[in-house]
Formats: sequence, structure tokens, C-alpha cells
Amino acid sequence: MLEPAAIDTVGLSKTYGGKVHALVGLDLRVERGEVFGYLGPNGAGKSTTIRLLLGLIHPTAGRASVFGLDTRTNGVRARGHLGYLPGDLRLSDRLTGREQLESLASLRGSVDRALRDELCARLGVVLERPIRQLSRGNRQKIGLVQAFMHRPELVVLDEPTAGLDPLLQNEVRALLRETAAEGRTIFLSSHSLDEVQHVADRVGIIRAGRLVDVDAVESLRERALRHVTITFAEPADPSQFAGLDGVRVVSTDGAVLRLSAPEPAMDGVVKAAARYRIVDLVSQPADLEEIFLELYREGDDGG
Ligand SMILES: Nc1ncnc2c1ncn2[C@@H]1O[C@H](COP(=O)(O)OP(=O)(O)OP(=O)(O)O)[C@@H](O)[C@H]1O
Ligand SMILES: [Mg+2]
Repeated sequence: MLEPAAIDTVGLSKTYGGKVHALVGLDLRVERGEVFGYLGPNGAGKSTTIRLLLGLIHPTAGRASVFGLDTRTNGVRARGHLGYLPGDLRLSDRLTGREQLESLASLRGSVDRALRDELCARLGVVLERPIRQLSRGNRQKIGLVQAFMHRPELVVLDEPTAGLDPLLQNEVRALLRETAAEGRTIFLSSHSLDEVQHVADRVGIIRAGRLVDVDAVESLRERALRHVTITFAEPADPSQFAGLDGVRVVSTDGAVLRLSAPEPAMDGVVKAAARYRIVDLVSQPADLEEIFLELYREGDDGG
């Protein structure tokens, strides 16, 4: 029998108050052991999707399941497999970090205390001070520990690195990779491709409630344009490059030619360049953020 996916949604939709179409017909399957990055601008519907996956809100249409358990009709059992970091994390201001984690652990029942202590040490969680005295980043760390401390099979994180300094962001990325290496699954939302491209296997891009693109990070990288600067011994004919598929000549400045090209066009670029004497050739690494921003912008006019 086919094992149920970690996450499976069919036509999942949410309309608030009969008129805000926050999520429209989401069909998405996330396999076990995958790290899936869910990207989109403010108000795109990321948190709505995540709340639907958690069974915290009900779909207007369609359905979602987690390990084969419908999040609406089997929400409690489904949540038993989940760790969750909400985007609008709420903690008890009067408790200390330690008390907060104890209280959440007792709700969970089964918490791996050694793991919890290890996570606290790793993220540098402030345990002995009341939460109301903690900075945003230090609260976020408590939220992260509670999402991981029961070793869930699926961890759903709504903007996990929001408010964390770069060192901590790296630590969280390492934690995500280790979790996936154990065969567990991660679904994380973010505004920035840069933030997830080094941890995610695949990314989905959502805009105005609709999933506009799902792709492996590797193939996004292939689609991403390289910025190529070629310095020739004497001026070269730019039309030799402009005629290549996908290539755009950005500027010619004497013997310096700047162009942008997707990875599959690079061979043609180099061969065209080789007809001349070359002084220097620089190809800048794929800039994923750029295609990401392009997808953000796409349809801005069309609605
Ligand atoms: N409880 C609610 N009632 C009415 N509208 C809502 C509610 N929650 C969200 N919305 C609307 O649904 C849309 C999607 O919101 P959502 O919070 O899912 O976006 P998001 O992608 O998480 O955004 P952000 O990046 O800002 O966190 C927005 O237009 C938002 O205003
Ligand atoms: Mg959100």
C-alpha cells in the first residue's frame, strides 16, 4: 500500500467572512523526510494554510490530511504527529521560560527531556527569567524548543527565524537539516527565498491565496539567471550573444560585454565568446532571489 504523505491537500480553500479569499484550491503533497519551504509576500495566505494543516481553522472547501489523517475530522490525532511554531507566538508572560516549557510539556505528555535540554542549550534559551522580560528573539527560541521537544514526525514552522540573529538563524537551519536527515518532515513558511534555499528540498510560492509555483530548489537554480561579464581584447559583436536562446545583452562598454543567461545557455555563451580573444570572464552565481521576486511581481497587474 502507498504510504500516506506527510501532508496532502486537495482543493484546500479558506474564505474569511464570506469575502476574503485567503486560500484558493491548494493541491499540495509533501513527502516524508522532505523540507518544504512555503514562500510568499505579506497576506499571501501562508499562515492560513498552516492553521488549516493544524486543524485550528476549518476549510471553506477541500481537505487537508497529515499522515493520512484528515485535519478536520481527525484533528486531535493528526496534531499528535505535529510540532508547531505559530507566526503569532503567544506565551504566558508571567511564567519563566522553564515553567513555560514544563507547562507545554505536561500538555503534550510525551516529551524527551534530554532533547529539550539539549535544544535549550543549543539555542541559548533564557530559562530562569519571566517571559515578559525577554526580547523577541529570546521568546522565539522558546517557541522553537516547544515545537521540537517531543520529536514530532512533522514540524510546521510559521516564519521560524523571524527575530533571530544570523548566528541563531544558522543554528536553526542546522536543526532543520538534522531533523530531515532523521526522515522527519518540515514545512516552513518565509518571505525570503534566501532564507530557505539552503535547507529546503522544494519550495512553493503562494501569492494572493494561490500557489503559483512549486519547484525543486535545484531546478529553480537552473532557471535563475547568471550575470556574465566578458572582457575581450577588442570589442565583440553583441548580436552574436543576443541571438542565443534566453540570453539578454545588458550592456556593451568598449570591449566589456555584460549579459544575463540561464544555466542551459551558458555553453552557447562560452562558445560564442571563444571566437574572440578573451581577457577575462566572470559568471556570477545563480541569483535565486531574483526569480523569486519576479514570481512575486507576476500577476500584480492581473490580480
Ligand atoms: N481571521 C481572519 N479574518 C479575516 N481575514 C483574515 C484572517 N486571517 C487572515 N486574514 C486575511 O487572509 C489573507 C491571508 O492572510 P495570512 O495571515 O494567511 O497571510 P500570510 O501569508 O501569513 O501573511 P504574513 O506574511 O503577513 O504573515 C490576508 O488578506 C488576511 O488579511
Ligand atoms: Mg503569516
